[in-house]
Amino acid sequence: MSSPTVTYLADYRAPEFLIEKTHLTFELHEGYTDVSSQLTLVRNPQGTQAAHLVLHGEQLELLALAIDERTLNAEDYQTTPLNLTVYNVPERFVLHCKTRIYPEKNTALEGLYRSGGMYCTQCEAEGFRKITYYLDRPDVMSEFETVIIAQAGTFSTMLSNGNCVSDTVRDGNRIVHWHDPFKKPSYLFALVAGNLACLEDHFTTQSGRQVLLQIYTEAKDQDKCHFAMQSLKKAMRWDEQTYGREYDLDRFMIVAVDDFNMGAMENKGLNIFNTACVLAHPASTTDAAFQRVEGVIAHEYFHNWSGNRVTCRDWFQLSLKEGLTVYRDSEFSADMNSRAVKRIEDANLIRSVQFVEDAGPMAHPVRPDSYMEISNFYTVTIYEKGAEVVRMLANILGPEQYRRATDLYFSRFDGQAVTCDDFVQCMEEVSGKDLQQFRLWYSQAGTPHLQISDSFDADRQQYSLTIRQHTPATPGQTEKKALHIPFKTALYGDKGALPLTINGQNKGTETTLDICQDQQTIVFEQVTEAPAPSLLRSFSAPVKIFYDYQLPQLQRLILLDSDGFCRWDAMQSLMRIVLCNAIDGKDNHTEQTVLIEAIRQLLASHSTMDAALLASMLSLPNEQYLASLYAKADPVAISQARTQLQNQLAAELQTELLHCYQILQDQAQGLSAPAMAARSLRNAALAYLLQLDNAHYRSLAQQQFAQADNMTNQFSALRALVHAEHAHAIAQEALQAFYQQWQHETLVVNMWFQVQATRPWGNVLQEVQNLLHHKAFDARNPNKLRAVIAAFANQNFARFHDKSGKAYQFLAEQIADIDQRNPQIASRLLTPLTHWHQFTDTHATLMRTALESLTQHELSKDMYEVVSKSLS
Ligand code: BES
Ligand code: ZN
Repeated sequence: MSSPTVTYLADYRAPEFLIEKTHLTFELHEGYTDVSSQLTLVRNPQGTQAAHLVLHGEQLELLALAIDERTLNAEDYQTTPLNLTVYNVPERFVLHCKTRIYPEKNTALEGLYRSGGMYCTQCEAEGFRKITYYLDRPDVMSEFETVIIAQAGTFSTMLSNGNCVSDTVRDGNRIVHWHDPFKKPSYLFALVAGNLACLEDHFTTQSGRQVLLQIYTEAKDQDKCHFAMQSLKKAMRWDEQTYGREYDLDRFMIVAVDDFNMGAMENKGLNIFNTACVLAHPASTTDAAFQRVEGVIAHEYFHNWSGNRVTCRDWFQLSLKEGLTVYRDSEFSADMNSRAVKRIEDANLIRSVQFVEDAGPMAHPVRPDSYMEISNFYTVTIYEKGAEVVRMLANILGPEQYRRATDLYFSRFDGQAVTCDDFVQCMEEVSGKDLQQFRLWYSQAGTPHLQISDSFDADRQQYSLTIRQHTPATPGQTEKKALHIPFKTALYGDKGALPLTINGQNKGTETTLDICQDQQTIVFEQVTEAPAPSLLRSFSAPVKIFYDYQLPQLQRLILLDSDGFCRWDAMQSLMRIVLCNAIDGKDNHTEQTVLIEAIRQLLASHSTMDAALLASMLSLPNEQYLASLYAKADPVAISQARTQLQNQLAAELQTELLHCYQILQDQAQGLSAPAMAARSLRNAALAYLLQLDNAHYRSLAQQQFAQADNMTNQFSALRALVHAEHAHAIAQEALQAFYQQWQHETLVVNMWFQVQATRPWGNVLQEVQNLLHHKAFDARNPNKLRAVIAAFANQNFARFHDKSGKAYQFLAEQIADIDQRNPQIASRLLTPLTHWHQFTDTHATLMRTALESLTQHELSKDMYEVVSKSLS
């Protein structure tokens, strides 16, 4: 295959033409759709006066083309598979174009496609060019008018962005006319047509305007939209209160679709959601999924300002909208639920996924320099690291200055397409701080490593911390500079946090050190006892820290630290020490005892602490994270060590776990935050107990499964049974009952698939292959592929890394097949194989072989980029 072209940030040029108005007419027919466009084009004064107009367009049948009233002849234009060039165009003109497309044949789910009985669109990043010829780039912002025409009676719902101007029937056709008064790039265009039910509500904005809120779904899912509606109203209020941002249209619509490559999409006034991210009902939705719905609803809503009103100049600036919006939604979730637990989840994701991406062949900066296929760059680096970069800025400025800086950003750039640097400049202007070094966070890839050493001088009452930073090389970037790292620190004595004095200045009990040099030493004065340093508090920067904790220091932080993240992190460190000793075959007795006693003490204090935090402190570091600690990880040894420790903890702590499980029963009822927290702790305890070969614990799980009145309890019991090695017969029964009960709820059937694909023991590969033939499986539906194939490859470390290498080959074969239908999903499924360099030679070779087998196929651009970068 010839390599696709590479797009470089350095090659950015302003567009030659602008599109003042975009008028689209869609004629929906059975089997095909005709799209007529009228584009009011004007030359861009910032361009280079090019004679020709070059538009994007892919997989389009061109039916008619005219400028103003003049139909163009064959010599006036040229088409290629990617473009339409119109020669020698005037300064200002209207281009009339008619194209035919085939939504029912669109399996890539990009552009206009069909999902079930309905039509819907997905245009980000470059899908609009599959609908009509256009300047499909985010710095071309236009006012859109859309007319949708279909035979009367075919669809009850016909939607597009903005306000509905008219809805009429003429000559047997229904004609619906939409107008969006706000200029937007084509990636925010949306159209939906189908037979949908609608939940309606209203929101009064802070300035007193009434906004109509609508959530459209298939009629059978109507009762599952109330939670999303409440979440939307909370998000709207939060954005007014926290950022002063008010909604701008009279109507905000959400549509749920079954077939969707991503979670959801922020199209102006017409968000389109994967059903998995909007539908929720206690009987069929877990607590975790409820929180996901709340977070995704907020995220897409927040884009109305951070993304839509102010958008990206080009796709290299993707983190401008995604990093900022993830930061905004994570703060919203922290305000709505447990702040500490949300921070732990985010830190854990960065550590076990983003750091791994940063250490691999796909490593890239928050603002990449180049790409082959932009769809491959919707990554944890752009999203999560990008959000951490905004968080660091917010912390450096403090709440008042950060708010003034975002106010300036939104007002200065309203209606414009801008860059990450424009955002940082607002931060700089408002604060008066020099952020030159900080800007490296956008351009430099890789995770900074901080080597930390300390010394305590009891006579002089001085405690010093020496911090050395170093960022390992990443592909194409070997020289790394020192970054500006805000490093939040406290010192813990025997009784609690110690007062901090630096250079004679009192700093309270917590301080943010600005680490800017390769090496820095900080001296704390008047320190009266040898402290336990509480480092990187609240995960103040996305960095790896290396500090040799003594066991008593960790014990102290686990019990005393006021920062939830640090308490959790101290427990993770203790667990990591025990696990690594086991993996390395070292004697472990003391460490194990300390760990067991620490957990025992925590469980004893469950009534005085956040149960959700306690639950997260009980979970062992995940395998992916453990693997990242080794230059060449042995996946089999890692899973074994982890399972053994799980068993040991269960055996040693069963009395306390069982007590916790029983005593929290009454508190675990209902949908309140404390009830959810109690459930998470009880279910964590239950999962531990099921590790033991004990009929009583099995019957507890069986009872919980049978009697549960909510999905969290039912599914936790099911998972505990299925994943336990000693419960096979009961688990099979429960699986069958679960399917019987939920076979008509697509999203629950997906959980049923997932729980089987992630079972850590037995011949799961064979079972996964069987599931692909199950009648409920559908290889064209991304959620199903995620529930079976992605779940197996990403969440079943033990079985995916089976030493035979058969699972690697299986994944490669599946991906080759999926790539022919849906390149975006195929390319995403490939991620676990791109981590081959992390593993021992035997595994690495088998993983590479699987990757190499893919080069035998005709690959999509998406796949070519990931395969070739992974192998080079
Ligand atoms: N703009 C994206 C959706 C998107 C990404 C569409 C890539 C097309 C290509 C949307 O705002 C988003 O980021 N969605 C996330 C969920 C969010 C909570 C982080 C998603 O879909 O996973
Ligand atoms: Zn987003």
